[in-house]
Amino acid sequence: MSLDLSPVDQAKFFAARRATDYVENGMRVGLGTGSTAAWFVKCLGEMVRDHGLNIICVATSAQTAELAKSEGITVTTLDDVRWLDVTIDGADEYDRQLNLIKGGGGALLREKIVATASEQVIIIADATKQVDTLGAFPLPVEVIPFGWQSTKTLIEEMLIGLDVMGRRASLRMKNNQPFRTDEGNYILDLDLRRIGNAQQLSLVLNQAPGVVENGLFIDICDAVVIGYSDGKVEVRDINESIMEQTQVEIFEEDNLFLDIDD
Ligand code: 5RP
Repeated sequence: MSLDLSPVDQAKFFAARRATDYVENGMRVGLGTGSTAAWFVKCLGEMVRDHGLNIICVATSAQTAELAKSEGITVTTLDDVRWLDVTIDGADEYDRQLNLIKGGGGALLREKIVATASEQVIIIADATKQVDTLGAFPLPVEVIPFGWQSTKTLIEEMLIGLDVMGRRASLRMKNNQPFRTDEGNYILDLDLRRIGNAQQLSLVLNQAPGVVENGLFIDICDAVVIGYSDGKVEVRDINESIMEQTQVEIFEEDNLFLDIDD
């Protein structure tokens, strides 16, 4: 690959390119958020513009919606279509059961709503996101701004009885201000280090008043497409328990990388 991309970005690109195989003419497609999902949107844009792919998409963030529109992709609301054929998104961590931590980009709420409205959920990632046990990546929890300090204290107290290694919650900041999600909420990042029982944790967190949603995606993902910098791609599919390996090709005329600094 004669591109000025880091090995991790190359891996993300190859996973994204392979994931376009899940998209067919006439489909309603959910678009994730983050750098890997952005590669997917660019690949999809190319298929729409150059190959006449006819799809309608729902974006999981304002950022993704803007990118998709700039790529010539038709974007609508989830309320318009109600149901999606497939959603392709990135993740911060995935384990062997294909449970995930998401929300590093702050879009976990819309991502979870879109994912659970989808027939199929495909995660695209590089191999660094694979873990034996979730929790090394701080778990994002979306909370409403009102009383967030009390919500934070309550969450830290709830964590005492749970199978986790750390309990510290910190308010996510951006430009010296609390980070705001597209819904206007805050994010608390939980430094748990190891999550022994992800399902239990997810249920408990969502019971705290003030919590809108957490970044654990349990039994939501159907397959993970794992990209490597040399173009190798593995597909891990929990339903059929298959591991598929392929090589993704780059074509000379590929112009996806012209706006690489965007
Ligand atoms: C955004 C997410 C992203 O999918 C996750 O943070 C991975 O991002 P990237 O592809 O940039 O590594 O959950 O809320």
